[in-house]
Order: sequence, then C-alpha cells, then structure tokens
Amino acid sequence: MPDTPKIALVTGAAKRIGAEIARHLHAAHFNLVIHYHHSATEALALADELNNLRENSAIALKADLNNQDQLTALAQQASSKWQGIHLLVNNASSFYPTPFDKANGDDWDDLIGSNLKAPYFLAQALAAQLTTAAGSIINIADIYADKPLRNHSIYSIAKAGNLMLTKSLAQELAPRVRVNGIAPGAILWPDGNHKKKEDTLSDEDKEKVLCKIPLQQRGQAQDIAKAILFLVNDAPYVTGQILTVDGGRSLTI
Ligand SMILES: NC(=O)c1ccc[n+]([C@@H]2O[C@H](COP(=O)([O-])OP(=O)(O)OC[C@H]3O[C@@H](n4cnc5c(N)ncnc54)[C@H](OP(=O)(O)O)[C@@H]3O)[C@@H](O)[C@H]2O)c1
Repeated sequence: MPDTPKIALVTGAAKRIGAEIARHLHAAHFNLVIHYHHSATEALALADELNNLRENSAIALKADLNNQDQLTALAQQASSKWQGIHLLVNNASSFYPTPFDKANGDDWDDLIGSNLKAPYFLAQALAAQLTTAAGSIINIADIYADKPLRNHSIYSIAKAGNLMLTKSLAQELAPRVRVNGIAPGAILWPDGNHKKKEDTLSDEDKEKVLCKIPLQQRGQAQDIAKAILFLVNDAPYVTGQILTVDGGRSLTI
C-alpha cells in the first residue's frame, strides 16, 4: 500500500512549464492543485488527465493572483481540499517588454504582482499548513534576475526580488519549511500572453539566443520539473538556494 499522497499547489499550471511540473509531481505521488487564471480549458483537461491516472488526485482552481481576495480564497480552497499543503510552487508569471520610456503603473503592478507580490502572500497564506507538513516552497525565478534583460526592466526587477524572496523566506520559515528557487534559462519561447500578445520572438532573435547557450540547445520543461523534484525530495539540508537550469547560458550573458 503506497503512502498517503502529499499535496502540491502549482500556480500557473494549466500549460507549458507549470503543467510539466504538475505532471512530474503527480508521477512522484503528489496530489495536485492546478491553479490557473485564463486557461480554464487546459487546466480542466490536465486535472482530468491526472484524475484518470489516479482517482481524486487533482483539482483545478481559478484565481487572478494580482487580486488579494482571490489569492486568499485560492490558498483556503487549496489547503482544505485534502487537508493541508506540503508544497507550494510559485510558477505563475507575466512576461513582456516594458521599454523604459513607455512603461506604466499597470505594467509595474502586473509584473511585480505576479512575479513577486503574489508568491510572497501565497507563502504567507499557506505558511501554517506548510509548517505543519514540514513542507517546502519553490519559487521560479529567471537567469535575468541577476543580469537584466534589455527592454524588460520591470520583469527583471520582479525576478530579482523573487531571488531575495527565496532567501528571506528560507530564513523566516526555518526550521520546518525549506524554501528554494529555480532560475531557468531559455526553456520555452514566449507565446505572448493575455496582456501583451505581441511578445513573441522572431526566428532571428531565437537563433541569437541559441548561439549563446554552451550546451547549444534550449532546455525542456521537464528539466525544470526534475530540478524541482530534486530540491523537494532529495535535498533535505538545502534551503535558501537558487538552482540555475540554463545549459550554461548565464555564463555567457
Ligand atoms: N519559458 C521560459 O523559457 C522561462 C525562462 C525563464 C524563466 N521562466 C519562468 O518559469 C515560469 C514558467 O514559465 P512559462 O513560460 O511556462 O510561463 P508562462 O506561460 O509565461 O506563464 C505561466 C502562467 O502564469 C499565469 N499567470 C500570469 N499572470 C497571472 C496572474 N496575474 N494571476 C494568475 N495567473 C497568472 C498564466 O495563467 P493562465 O494562462 O491560466 O492565465 C500563465 O499560463 C515562470 O515563472 C517564468 O518566469 C520561464
């Protein structure tokens, strides 16, 4: 008889990297709370996929993480579904250019909100449950948290804050809860998002990025998922650390 499943909340988990994280955690015997905002169809399909593999092992919950009431409701619903939370993966993120002369307050609120403020307050809302479970938090940052990405200053600032979030919360929540981060390099090209559809890369831009990766290829979503599983399951003496998963890209920025 297998152990009782642990419970993970993955934000922005309907598709792309978040969905792959959810699938890997599920295969590692976690029950999944799949958070989404706009991508209801994909989130519900993923929940069905996981529930077909193991009955009553996944739910999909909607929330705009930039809305504090919806964030609080998400934390409450997520932790009451199976009584508790063992793992919070702060994966949801908005990403688009904010040229310095055109950036506005809405851009700031959206990018800082999804990449920094929401991870902080979700951690706060779930701290008691994570402490009870001796669980962990994984924050998904970016290699551009250390070195800024041109034309993306607000995103870079938000992810830089996300790095300090990981270190601060590791200190605040010790010794019961470990908090670590992942800094991905080029994994999936931006697909545009609901706010700024124009944020996609030309073939020439993609080639320029690929040229600068020592391992000469993009990473895959599963590289991020596997790194999370390592930090969660196989690194009990590691907290407050950021694991860079970028094929060496940050060596050449
Ligand atoms: N892709 C890469 O190569 C790469 C590189 C470096 C770092 N990263 C980091 O890795 C993580 C995953 O990357 P990704 O490319 O898979 O992400 P993504 O597709 O750009 O975004 C993930 C999800 O975040 C959700 N989201 C955005 N704003 C939200 C808000 N205000 N409230 C609730 N949900 C919100 C969206 O959910 P809905 O679709 O449901 O609205 C979206 O599907 C992110 O933290 C990203 O910064 C990715």
